[in-house]
Amino acid sequence: MTLASLKGKTALVTGASSGLGADFARHLAAAGCHLVLTARREAQLQAMKDELTAAHGVEVLLVPQDLSAPDAPEKLLAAITAAGKQVDVLINNAGYGAYGQFLEIPWEKEHQMLELDIVALVHLTKLFAAPMVARGQGYILQVASIGAFQPSPLYASYSAAKAFVLSYGNAINYELRGTGVSCTVLSPGVTATEFLQVSGQKPTTYQRLMMMTSPEVTRAGLEAMVRRRMGIVPGFLNRLMAVSGKASPAWLATMLAYRVMKQP
Ligand SMILES: NC(=O)c1ccc[n+]([C@@H]2O[C@H](COP(=O)([O-])OP(=O)(O)OC[C@H]3O[C@@H](n4cnc5c(N)ncnc54)[C@H](OP(=O)(O)O)[C@@H]3O)[C@@H](O)[C@H]2O)c1
Repeated sequence: MTLASLKGKTALVTGASSGLGADFARHLAAAGCHLVLTARREAQLQAMKDELTAAHGVEVLLVPQDLSAPDAPEKLLAAITAAGKQVDVLINNAGYGAYGQFLEIPWEKEHQMLELDIVALVHLTKLFAAPMVARGQGYILQVASIGAFQPSPLYASYSAAKAFVLSYGNAINYELRGTGVSCTVLSPGVTATEFLQVSGQKPTTYQRLMMMTSPEVTRAGLEAMVRRRMGIVPGFLNRLMAVSGKASPAWLATMLAYRVMKQP
């Protein structure tokens, strides 16, 4: 299966106003896939729509939402249904990290992060997977992180949230077997997007050396998704880190994660 098999289908991409979400949208539009794009920043979403309709002639519906609000997933579904569309591909990408000593991260920021990275992702998955299963066809891509494979001090609750996404995605992929719907988990390493700027971290030497580009990471994720793979960690060195994070004693993996994330 290739991305071309998505021609004429409709994909919902969350967090499509920048970074990985914008590149998921670009790859999908280039494959002839119609889009529903959501994020908070309306001007950036409108710029994506202008770019993609001009370049590829696909239909693009914009539904700006703050997905950390409890009723946002329901509102998103209602807006898509009112526009007469159904979602064949769900890209659960919106998310951010909160960097720092856990006692110093304001609760409000951390709470919103957990609402977005965990609660909204699960809610959207339930809302959009059900009609896919009823039709016997669909794809779900959950965006986790390489931080999911070991505890990561200074990203303590973010990496734990991404461990949730990885575990949840793998488990529901198993539950979905035989339905025609699959759930793939993409676990990127550090990638050049607005992520570090939003998390409040200056890139460490390790991060500068390991940095991948957003177009290559999103293409790897989408290709794994159309092949209905359970998961993908893009980049050989990232895969090595993920495997060693799982295989090492927890104290060692935790200490190494701290060392590579600590700013000088
Ligand atoms: N870049 C990396 O190194 C890296 C590594 C591993 C995993 N990831 C994961 O990749 C995903 C995409 O992040 P990125 O790297 O592309 O970062 P990014 O450039 O900061 O993009 C994050 C996206 O999420 C959206 N978003 C943030 N808060 C939101 C909210 N409350 N409601 C709705 N949308 C919201 C942002 O849009 P608005 O601000 O317009 O709402 C933006 O479109 C995230 O899940 C992140 O955890 C990134």
